[in-house]
Amino acid sequence: MGGRSRGWAAGPLPLPLLLAGLLQLGAAAQVGRWTEVEISLPPGDNITVFVKRGTLTWPTNLCNIIFQRRRLPSLIIKRGEKAVFTFECSDPEKHYVLEVQKNIDCMSGPCPFGEVQLLPSRLPALNRTFIWNVKASPKVGLELQFSSPRLQQIRPGETCPDLVTYSISSSVEKTAVNIGTFCSNGTVSRIKMQGGVKLALYLPWNENRNFSGFNITNRSSIRRLCIIESVFEGEGSATLMSANYPDGFPEDELMSWQFVIPPHLRASVSFLNYTLSNCEKKEERVEYFIPGSLTNPEVFQLGDKQPGNMAGNFNLSLQGCDQDFQNPGALRLLFQVLVQYPQSEGNKVYTVNLSNERAMSLSIEPRPLKTSRRFVPACLICEGPTRCSSNLTLTSGNKYEISFLCDDLTRLWIIAEKSISCTDIGYCSRKSYQLLVPSDIIQLPVELRDYTWKLFVPKDKISLQMSPAQKLQQHTHDKNCETTFSYMLSSAVQGQNLYFGSFCPGGSIEKIQVKTNISVVLRTFSPGFFNESFRQGMNVTFIPSFKDEGIFTVTPDSKAKVYLRTPNWDRGLPPLTSVSWNISVPHDQVAHLTFSKERMGVSCETGRAFMIIQEQKAKAEEIVSRDDEPLPKPRDLHHNFWVNISNCSPMQGKQLDLQFCVSLTPRKMDMMVIILAAVGGGSTLLFALGLLICYAKKSKNKKDSKEPAVGIYNGNINTQIPGKAGKFQKGRKENDSHVYAVIDDTMVYGHLLNGSNGSSTSPEVDVYRPFQGPMGDRPPSPPPICSRISTKKLHPEDPRPFLLSESDGEPYTFSHPKTVALKGNEDNGIPLLEKKEPEEVME
Ligand SMILES: *[C@@H]1O[C@H](CO)[C@@H](O)[C@H](O)[C@H]1NC(C)=O
Ligand SMILES: *[C@@H]1O[C@H](CO)[C@@H](O)[C@H](O)[C@H]1NC(C)=O
Ligand SMILES: *[C@@H]1O[C@H](CO)[C@@H](O)[C@H](O)[C@H]1NC(C)=O
Ligand SMILES: *[C@@H]1O[C@H](CO)[C@@H](O)[C@H](O)[C@H]1NC(C)=O
Ligand SMILES: *[C@@H]1O[C@H](CO)[C@@H](O)[C@H](O)[C@H]1NC(C)=O
Ligand SMILES: *[C@@H]1O[C@H](CO)[C@@H](O)[C@H](O)[C@H]1NC(C)=O
Ligand SMILES: *[C@@H]1O[C@H](CO)[C@@H](O)[C@H](O)[C@H]1NC(C)=O
Ligand SMILES: *[C@@H]1O[C@H](CO)[C@@H](O)[C@H](O)[C@H]1NC(C)=O
Ligand SMILES: *[C@@H]1O[C@H](CO)[C@@H](O)[C@H](O)[C@H]1NC(C)=O
Ligand SMILES: *[C@@H]1O[C@H](CO)[C@@H](O)[C@H](O)[C@H]1NC(C)=O
Ligand SMILES: *[C@@H]1O[C@H](CO)[C@@H](O)[C@H](O)[C@H]1NC(C)=O
Ligand SMILES: *[C@@H]1O[C@H](CO)[C@@H](O)[C@H](O)[C@H]1NC(C)=O
Repeated sequence: MGGRSRGWAAGPLPLPLLLAGLLQLGAAAQVGRWTEVEISLPPGDNITVFVKRGTLTWPTNLCNIIFQRRRLPSLIIKRGEKAVFTFECSDPEKHYVLEVQKNIDCMSGPCPFGEVQLLPSRLPALNRTFIWNVKASPKVGLELQFSSPRLQQIRPGETCPDLVTYSISSSVEKTAVNIGTFCSNGTVSRIKMQGGVKLALYLPWNENRNFSGFNITNRSSIRRLCIIESVFEGEGSATLMSANYPDGFPEDELMSWQFVIPPHLRASVSFLNYTLSNCEKKEERVEYFIPGSLTNPEVFQLGDKQPGNMAGNFNLSLQGCDQDFQNPGALRLLFQVLVQYPQSEGNKVYTVNLSNERAMSLSIEPRPLKTSRRFVPACLICEGPTRCSSNLTLTSGNKYEISFLCDDLTRLWIIAEKSISCTDIGYCSRKSYQLLVPSDIIQLPVELRDYTWKLFVPKDKISLQMSPAQKLQQHTHDKNCETTFSYMLSSAVQGQNLYFGSFCPGGSIEKIQVKTNISVVLRTFSPGFFNESFRQGMNVTFIPSFKDEGIFTVTPDSKAKVYLRTPNWDRGLPPLTSVSWNISVPHDQVAHLTFSKERMGVSCETGRAFMIIQEQKAKAEEIVSRDDEPLPKPRDLHHNFWVNISNCSPMQGKQLDLQFCVSLTPRKMDMMVIILAAVGGGSTLLFALGLLICYAKKSKNKKDSKEPAVGIYNGNINTQIPGKAGKFQKGRKENDSHVYAVIDDTMVYGHLLNGSNGSSTSPEVDVYRPFQGPMGDRPPSPPPICSRISTKKLHPEDPRPFLLSESDGEPYTFSHPKTVALKGNEDNGIPLLEKKEPEEVME
């Protein structure tokens, strides 16, 4: 069909050839069953009818025209002629087509304007094309008016549902210009052209319409190639194209589109496809007349965001340029006009002032949704009154006025990202930043999907501490987050696949410390975030670096059970990674610690995985489980305690995922004291307190001296247990110091190697090779010397850091503990082999 509609526009038809093969027909006896056709053309109209073989290549001998007892392959009937003929076959529609050409010459005489008839009538049921060729002076405008249902432009290669097709062309200096191909049922009501029109109407053989559907009238000059008018009667859309699309628009031409929009609706223009030509002079552009605009005509480049949310009729013109003769290129444009009701949000303007923000960007964009075939009104975001698009990006440092042109704002969401970097250690160290979604963003009527803070710190120099405004709960299967939003913490180190977990307000996690770059994503799960946004907020402090991947400070409430789990849940803690929990137990409470399973379940390829529980008191017993041993039975802990989990390099499939639960119950002993106090009066209590203080002093003096000092495992990485009871002399209020003291603690848990609960006394030697598996993008840069020593081999015979000569490839050995190594360092709680700086961390 495309061929048909373009054929005539391309050039003169090979008409004379059709008559060439006249056949002499022997006998009229061969007349087919098809009824006789009579075509009679009046002498007044310049009409010619061609009956010719169709494009389908049936064998030509199957069917012929029988005319005046002769078999003809084709027939031409000219003005004033009458022809009576039949077809040889019963299905001539498979073999023959009709073409009716009518020439209308407005140059030499008056033009027969008005309704265009489909003449001649009573044509045989063949595919037929009516072609009206109107010649007119270049100064005369001609207007085609289409009755309802108007026309709809189709893209090249598309076909009309009912196959009824209008092809319209014009000419520029005798060169045919294709204005467009149209179907019924659209918005195009009028097409104005200048200097002649060629219109072809194609009807399939089984279409028996008897009207053309259009009028021709004359108009004064339009001074451009053409004007296409679209009339919208309700919501809808129209797709329109520049002349000759997808080929280039004629050089230095002007084409316009007018749009009639019902007063209560709004229109938006979007350019679906365009290319520019190579201009030598002038500039290709589009110009709008927008009702209400004070700057009409509004000039846009084709690459600009086109106007939207326009109320009232508007028009749009495409202006070409003088093209480069050598390399003209092609100007072409495919665009869409969407007309829909102004949405309730349409009139509301939101101010988003990001003047004070830095390194932040936000986009309001469509949620990914499955597409349906029905008409979906566009959902546009407008910046200012008319610059609307389906996707808007805002950047920090600017202020925006935003409105929405959208029937359903749940089709949109907001995604924002902000980067915070510490580059100057001296400057940012111990500085604090608040992670808060700005209120200008919260007030928007669109759901905030993700607000991501990317926190970057210098490697091995600075770590991060996050203190939420409300204590956090970790999302677990046993205790789901039920808030409207959560924080999702994951590593932002390239190649490090580490997800700390999802955390929501309303829990016991007071502080989360992570070793290095992370991304904190505030993700909302329901529209209620607006009402719950007061619970957001997290302070980030840049603190001196430590070695664990993460440290969680947990202060449980007496009521609830606290569930905690290792990072990368379901995928396993990354190899050779260590994580710690610092869990507070109030003086009058006992913590009950339960693991969700009996064993770690990890299978180590190299190294060992450890789970260590240690109470933060003098002479605290360390409860240690290795990957090949059962985890401790549920137990009660009377003091603040650490849980440390450090991974080996596990085998595929057998990963380390641990979850545990902490719950508090009132301490019976304290009850005793209270009762005693109540009974015995103040003096008894004072006496008891005195005893306690003495005991504490004593134990302080004794601290550490009994600690075995040996043993390093999983060297070169971050597997260190949080440390030793003796380091925790300070009160709970100063817990931060504990953290750092502990983090940087030299490894002194040789007794771990005696098996859990110290049951085995035989020296155990294990050989560990440094992690040599895939390192991903993590640069294999060695840790600083001090930490290297502390994390690598600490040989019992070498109590001081004289081991630097070892190469990384050398196996590290565990060996039996010796107690002397750390003597003399315990008083200030500073690890033997560490710098003092971690002590300075406290806020
Ligand atoms: C009929 O149309 C043809 C083609 O345009 C033209 O050559 C011819 O002069 C016309 N005849 C009359 C009588 O207008
Ligand atoms: C008539 O049109 C139909 C569909 O438009 C097409 O399939 C058929 O081949 C055409 N007939 C001829 C003879 O070209
Ligand atoms: C054409 O004009 C006639 C008379 O002017 C009018 O009745 C008819 O509705 C018009 N048809 C179209 C398609 O505009
Ligand atoms: C025109 O559109 C209406 C409504 O969309 C539809 O019912 C009708 O079938 C369409 N007609 C044609 C010829 O496509
Ligand atoms: C078209 O056909 C309808 C009914 O078949 C008839 O009423 C009408 O007059 C016809 N119109 C023309 C222009 O022949
Ligand atoms: C249309 O044509 C008629 C007769 O040819 C003429 O009188 C009239 O002025 C023309 N109208 C315009 C707008 O050119
Ligand atoms: C835009 O034009 C290019 C090149 O002709 C074509 O590949 C692409 O599909 C077009 N896109 C649309 C939306 O029509
Ligand atoms: C566009 O609209 C303006 C204002 O209504 C009008 O002056 C201008 O002639 C129109 N242009 C076209 C091409 O319709
Ligand atoms: C944007 O906010 C900043 C700080 O809140 C304020 O100083 C500035 O005046 C605001 N800008 C505008 C244009 O309202
Ligand atoms: C939004 O716009 C940006 C930049 O123009 C683009 O990268 C992104 O893919 C767009 N998103 C959607 C959903 O259209
Ligand atoms: C963290 O990000 C900073 C800045 O991009 C980079 O210099 C540093 O190396 C990153 N840290 C790690 C551990 O990759
Ligand atoms: C966060 O920092 C702000 C200002 O620095 C402070 O007012 C607020 O109390 C801090 N909140 C927390 C939870 O530390």
